Amino acid sequence: MLDFAIFAVTFVIILVGAVLYLYPVSLLASADGNLQDIVNKGSLHEFLVSLHQRFGSVASFWFGGRPVVSLGSVHQLRQHINPNHTTDSFETMLKSLLGYQSGMVGGAAETMMRKKVYESGINNTLTNNFPLVLKLSEELVGKWKAFPDSQHTPLCAHLLGLAMKTVTQLALGESFRDDAKVLSFCKNHDAIWSEIGKGYLDGSLEKSSSRKGHYEKALSEMESVLLSVAKERKGQRKQTAFVDTLLQSSLTERQIMEDCMVFTLAGCIITANLCVWALHFLSTSEEVQDKLYQELEEVLGSDPVSLDKIPQLRYCQQVLNETVRTAKLTPIAARLQGVEGKVDQHVIPKETLVIYALGVVLQDSDTWSTPYRFDPDRFEEESARKSFCLLGFSGNQTCPELRFAYTVATVLLSTLVRQLKLHQLKGQVMEVRSELVSTPKDETWITVSRKD
Ligand SMILES: *[C@@H]1O[C@H](CO)[C@@H](O)[C@H](O)[C@H]1NC(C)=O
Ligand SMILES: *[C@@H]1O[C@H](CO)[C@@H](O)[C@H](O)[C@H]1NC(C)=O
Ligand SMILES: *[C@@H]1O[C@H](CO)[C@@H](O)[C@H](O)[C@H]1NC(C)=O
Ligand SMILES: *[C@@H]1O[C@H](CO)[C@@H](O)[C@H](O)[C@H]1NC(C)=O
Repeated sequence: MLDFAIFAVTFVIILVGAVLYLYPVSLLASADGNLQDIVNKGSLHEFLVSLHQRFGSVASFWFGGRPVVSLGSVHQLRQHINPNHTTDSFETMLKSLLGYQSGMVGGAAETMMRKKVYESGINNTLTNNFPLVLKLSEELVGKWKAFPDSQHTPLCAHLLGLAMKTVTQLALGESFRDDAKVLSFCKNHDAIWSEIGKGYLDGSLEKSSSRKGHYEKALSEMESVLLSVAKERKGQRKQTAFVDTLLQSSLTERQIMEDCMVFTLAGCIITANLCVWALHFLSTSEEVQDKLYQELEEVLGSDPVSLDKIPQLRYCQQVLNETVRTAKLTPIAARLQGVEGKVDQHVIPKETLVIYALGVVLQDSDTWSTPYRFDPDRFEEESARKSFCLLGFSGNQTCPELRFAYTVATVLLSTLVRQLKLHQLKGQVMEVRSELVSTPKDETWITVSRKD
């Protein structure tokens, strides 16, 4: 198993290697400027965009003595994706970055078992706590309704707050109703994620001992919080939170802590950003808001949304699918080549790191017409759904945190869109930072007004 952490920490070296390897000597001087750009951006996604522009949809480069291949179109990915994979690559990547054992260590049977426990934990907590998810969304919408029409509302701050409250209470139980506890969780979460998202991917964490110390302190504080929550819940024999399902399985204390870490870290970030992007895109299109409103009225009437009604909200799902696509929410996945394989005429040797450049593929004009446009109607087409599914955004390869995020986002949209209209702020430039998850570079503002 290739250690992704090492891969990521030395990413700067990869870039140097790649540029030296790919560019003719005469171009090096000018390529150097680009290289500095890439390092400054610290974004693997941006690098892959330019790599595929230059070298087509299968591009390879060297990382030390190790070959790396990146696949940048649906056609090539289809040849490589193996439906039998039991691990999702996002989780594998995250666990390796945290220094945790990833699924492959204990063998396939254990991996399957852990995956199943993790998924039932998410399913159970959603079923048991659905009224709470609804209540937290209603509180936020209530707050927004009280705003004067011209008030600028910061999406990132409010939705990160919503995601944090929802995820901590659902994952760890009702002791996180206490705002002070959520805030302290938030502080450590922020310290960890900003390094996972950025410091690792551009190598800058290794170069700063004070940042590294800060990160390690936050991680160990978070780990001890999670361990003590697990102990406490075990004594209480409760059955409502995510951690309770894990406690009823044969997982060790350490494994339970690690799974809670992965779920809370990834769950918060993915949920918050899915909601941020969805509301941002909705604010740009009155038409999409109206259509969504129609569907909500038809399916729900004036009732609140419920877990069993969610599958009927098809257009809402299209809006969320299109949000994931347009924002390229998770722009990169990676797998290690187990046995020698082939994509087109290119042989991929065993042990090659294969990058799925999802951010590139999601905006490839051969697969998506007008790829930069937010257009939920494109998911009316079977072919769009198929391509999207192939990329791992549905079926048994979906990362479970994304399924969780879809549920929270659906609850939020169904509450919000029936009461408020969202408006874009004129002149706001939206820049994206594409790390493990794509986030807006700066705070994003909208205004809201009451519906009638
Ligand atoms: C997936 O597993 C099945 C049965 O175990 C096997 O027949 C099939 O070839 C596998 N598919 C791939 C792409 O490895
Ligand atoms: C995932 O689903 C595919 C097709 O639906 C199936 O062939 C495959 O065996 C499943 N893999 C696992 C690990 O469940
Ligand atoms: C969790 O729920 C999803 C969707 O409802 C379902 O497809 C999946 O099989 C469930 N997983 C487990 C382990 O119960
Ligand atoms: C959303 O995308 C998934 C594929 O990831 C697909 O299965 C589902 O049908 C899509 N939903 C709609 C309503 O298009």
